[in-house]
Amino acid sequence: MVRFKSPGNWVRAADNDWQCYDRARGLDFFSPTWDPPALRPHYACLPFFGYLAVLLIAHRGASGHAPENTLAAFKKAVTLGATFIETDLQLTRDARLVAIHDETVNRTTNGKGSVREMTLADLRRLDAGSWFGSEFSGERIPTLEEVLDFAKKYDVIFYLEMKPGGSRGGEHTLIGALRQSGEIARTIIISFDAAILANVRKIEPTLMTALLYDGQIEKPLDQALKVGARQLAIRGDLISPALLTAAREKDLQVVCWTVNHSAHMRLLMDAGVDGIMSDYPDRLAATAKTAKLKHS
Ligand code: G3P
Ligand code: CA
Repeated sequence: MVRFKSPGNWVRAADNDWQCYDRARGLDFFSPTWDPPALRPHYACLPFFGYLAVLLIAHRGASGHAPENTLAAFKKAVTLGATFIETDLQLTRDARLVAIHDETVNRTTNGKGSVREMTLADLRRLDAGSWFGSEFSGERIPTLEEVLDFAKKYDVIFYLEMKPGGSRGGEHTLIGALRQSGEIARTIIISFDAAILANVRKIEPTLMTALLYDGQIEKPLDQALKVGARQLAIRGDLISPALLTAAREKDLQVVCWTVNHSAHMRLLMDAGVDGIMSDYPDRLAATAKTAKLKHS
């Protein structure tokens, strides 16, 4: 059996017969009828994963086991079986995007101050690991370029969150880095700010995007469609069967966050969500093995 390393690759195995390897479940899938690359030329089989298995997305890396949004947390996520990793991006004073959740460095490093007011050099001097455990001492705040190198090296797809406060205005920086790395086809841009998503698709229409929803906007499905998003990323407790059905009718995938309890993961998998973000990708992987996946 030929194996295709990238989970984003559909490969023509024979005439009108497409094959894709789903690493999350260790299975090969065949499609005698679909023509996935023709239908979705820019992001290969990503939209079809919903029909194959639930996406297992490590939230801020495996942030339950390692300091969030560091290379250590990303490595741990891969070790635990995640094929997708979510991370947050903020803009520095010298217009570089870095992976950090908060607008300040206070909570997750040994420094103090606002990311927007610090240069990349300032940030790189900080220890982003010791607050979580002494064994992580020396971890640095990763640059976007390091994140994209990691994606390639470890064959994972990143959900990159453009934070509404801290990354607005960084759309060109983001897309420049994605183009440079060649990772456009394997990256999903997410944001609570629909205008950021609209901007990135205006600059790079092939980018796949997801609108984040925590109850803050009216008609989230319509808003997602309006800005050309492929997915709605919903807070886990806001999912309902009606919302899932409505999303299906509009051909929108539904991903939920941040779900850390196995029983909740199972409920959502059984309900047919397309992806789940968790600080514990190991729990996601274990739950996915036993859930009655709606589409499998
Ligand atoms: O990206 C989904 C989720 O991460 C949004 O919330 O605060 O964890 O970035 P937060
Ligand atoms: Ca996030």
